[in-house]
Amino acid sequence: MCGIFGIVTREEQLLGPILIEAGHRLSYRGYDTVGAATIPQNGKIDLRKDVGKVQEVADRLNFAEMRGDRAILQLRWATFGAPSYTNAQPHLDSDGDMVGAHNGNIVNNVELRQQFMAEGMVVRSENDGESCVHAVERYVHRGDDMLTAIRKAYHDLEGDYAFVIGRLGEDRLYAIKQGSGLVAGVADGMTCIASDLPSILPLTRQIVRLNDGEIIVFWAEGYEIYHAESGERIEREPEFVEESMEVAQKGGYDHFMLKEIHEQPQVARDLLHLMESDPEMDALIERLRSARNLYIVACGTSYHAGLLGSVYFSRLAGRVSIPVIAPQFIAHYAPACGPEDVGIFVSQSGETKDVLNAIQSAEARGMGVLGVVNVVGSTLMRESEYHVPLACGYEISVPATKTFMNQAVAFLYLALRLGGHDTAFLENLPRWIEETIAAVEAQIPTVEGKIAPWDDLYCLGYGLTYPIALEGALKLKEITYAHCEGMLSTEFKHGPLSAVVDGYPVIFVAGPEDVPLIISGVNEVTCRGGRAIAIGEEDPRLRANADDLIVIPTVDAPESMRPYVDAILSVLPLQLLSYRIGLARGYDPDFPRNLSKTLTVD
Ligand code: AGP
Repeated sequence: MCGIFGIVTREEQLLGPILIEAGHRLSYRGYDTVGAATIPQNGKIDLRKDVGKVQEVADRLNFAEMRGDRAILQLRWATFGAPSYTNAQPHLDSDGDMVGAHNGNIVNNVELRQQFMAEGMVVRSENDGESCVHAVERYVHRGDDMLTAIRKAYHDLEGDYAFVIGRLGEDRLYAIKQGSGLVAGVADGMTCIASDLPSILPLTRQIVRLNDGEIIVFWAEGYEIYHAESGERIEREPEFVEESMEVAQKGGYDHFMLKEIHEQPQVARDLLHLMESDPEMDALIERLRSARNLYIVACGTSYHAGLLGSVYFSRLAGRVSIPVIAPQFIAHYAPACGPEDVGIFVSQSGETKDVLNAIQSAEARGMGVLGVVNVVGSTLMRESEYHVPLACGYEISVPATKTFMNQAVAFLYLALRLGGHDTAFLENLPRWIEETIAAVEAQIPTVEGKIAPWDDLYCLGYGLTYPIALEGALKLKEITYAHCEGMLSTEFKHGPLSAVVDGYPVIFVAGPEDVPLIISGVNEVTCRGGRAIAIGEEDPRLRANADDLIVIPTVDAPESMRPYVDAILSVLPLQLLSYRIGLARGYDPDFPRNLSKTLTVD
């Protein structure tokens, strides 16, 4: 996830060390390029940027010597355009008298770049941060002052972003918030802005929080806030914050895992915007349609998302696909594959060795390689003919949550498009995710204590919820250290039923269309003294038969689409349940023992 920082000071001074420190404090968000610019009142903007880590780039380009009274720093997590010098931010306008940087995604970037080029502007990169600068330049060159130009640019820029810009010949910077984080900090003779608090806290604890659709104009001695839409001035006093740096990085949550669970509505929104505006989407869909055999290849959580994707493809598009865990692809399917076949390789990191080995074997057979990947610039992305960027930003917590969400959302979107369905209802999905998190969070405390003491349990699902049960079981294993087996609910009676004793917990994930079948399984457990915990929509049959019911809201999706949406939503209680039980058992959910975020070994 990109990060921005901007500062204005009373006197010209050495700003380099402040910028480097801000870079370090933004770096936990994840990034692949680093850039800084100082903006004198007269003279030339000093812009330095490159691919690499903060200290590396700062040392190589000697950020430490950068002087001035206005500066911008940006850490970029690539979405539009590969990580490169050209795509690194900040960006200059056509004639080099403005410089700006953003975080977030401008979803109409492709159209805007064409417009800017047609209008004679110098477009140097593919990056959407550059589009923010040209969107302002467009109106400044038509005679508007900076504030008016930014207000007009706000109407041209579609997406979720925060953006900072400065111009030669002035004493101030401007920033706008629309969907991405932006806070300001004020002190005597210094005002600054950043994507979040950690880079501001070393400078001041007097903070001004901004809302979406607001512009802040700031100079060394003060600031003004305006409504982007109406242009009206907004009065807002700074507040004193006491948060520690660690708490600030976690956005006020106790753990990154909880923060990332709560980021899911936003990342899903970002992803859907990106997929809707992806100029390569039609070609990608055609590639899926025309493949002889279609494989979905991944490991761990990414495999569970792929398995769900495979159910979506069959049911929504009549397209058979074979989900397979990556190393087994090599042994089982690759020998029979050829150039007519296509593999969708799914990986958060894009660096999982098991997945890369499978890609190698696919390429050796001449197969088509498509990617669903979070880390842009990763090996998987580079090896893919087409890829869907998951747009989740950096996932710090080892248990994957928001990346599973966006993998599932990506597959749902692809399946709908492949099946010729309308995708419009998906615009409500972020709201449904948000409502489900709120509803479920309130219910978990009544259930967690009944599961937490057990070192062994099952998590069962059927059809659309089978992959969700597997994912729930993996989350539970990963952070509670209890053994939890995920299984097709109908298989439980074929052996595992013998594990059931008094109070033994079995979780059932019940999709709305499978309630009768799930109820049979529930009764097989309860009549033997086991505890059946159901997850599903409010349903009198589940209420009457299960010992506990964690209710997910019945959403206002088109009736035929509700089971598909429900499947995605039903992972949320399992993420939260795992988190709470892990804590109750005394473990750190963010860094479970023995595990690593990226497995680059066989
Ligand atoms: C998920 O919580 C795990 N950390 C793990 O199963 C992970 O999904 C797996 O290692 C695959 O990683 P990838 O998506 O980066 O390829």
